[in-house]
Amino acid sequence: MNTKTEIKIYDTPILLAESMAAGFKKICDEVILKKGKINIALSGGNTPKLLFEVLAENYRNEIDWRSVNFYWVDERCVRPDDSESNFGMTEKYLLNKIEIPVENVHRVSGENEPEEEAIRYSQVLKENLTIENNFPRFDLTLLGMGDDGHTASIFPDQMEILDSNEICAVAVHPVSGQKRITLTGRVINNSDRVYFLVTGKSKSDIIKIIFEEKNGYLNFPAAHIELTNGELNWYLDKEAFGQSG
Ligand code: 6PG
Repeated sequence: MNTKTEIKIYDTPILLAESMAAGFKKICDEVILKKGKINIALSGGNTPKLLFEVLAENYRNEIDWRSVNFYWVDERCVRPDDSESNFGMTEKYLLNKIEIPVENVHRVSGENEPEEEAIRYSQVLKENLTIENNFPRFDLTLLGMGDDGHTASIFPDQMEILDSNEICAVAVHPVSGQKRITLTGRVINNSDRVYFLVTGKSKSDIIKIIFEEKNGYLNFPAAHIELTNGELNWYLDKEAFGQSG
């Protein structure tokens, strides 16, 4: 792992979420002061729910939400009101509870034809974000890791998405066959800061393999998140780190 990688371990998922929420506010304040706005890429799944709840509860009036722009790391190809929608989850846990202008919320239209939507969303990112190293650069990217070592919607059987020259790609969930739209590895690795939020025992075996760089660790997409010029932070709870009690 490179020198700009930090690992923090928390006793519980809620302590992790509280610490991340405090860090999130600090990053928003700093970036907004410097640039007038912040561009953030959010992940879906279950892990961010606690963070979103803490932000909605404790930071409703503490963050300048008018200057925050949300984008998505990945989206499932479903309608926004589907229980599988990453946007829908974020709306429920965070967006409906804060005063963020609707034009600051740049969702992936999961209901559209996936290939066309990947092209449209790439264009949205090109138009709204700073381009560095030929790719859009997020100020902050939040990632999760699946039990199979995937991150964003880059799965172990679609490793080519890590090195793609595109900004967005269409991925297919290896078990359910669900189509997804995802940022490619190069866009994620071009971020200013990435925070991996990983909790639960089911993640501990792969975390150990990746952290100890055991044989085959590069078969897991999450192991390929190495920032070109930025800070990588892993926030884990004890269980994901393989400690119990
Ligand atoms: C998604 C994701 C995905 C997620 C991991 C972890 O749409 O599912 O963005 O990459 O972050 O699968 O998911 P959990 O937080 O539910 O474990």
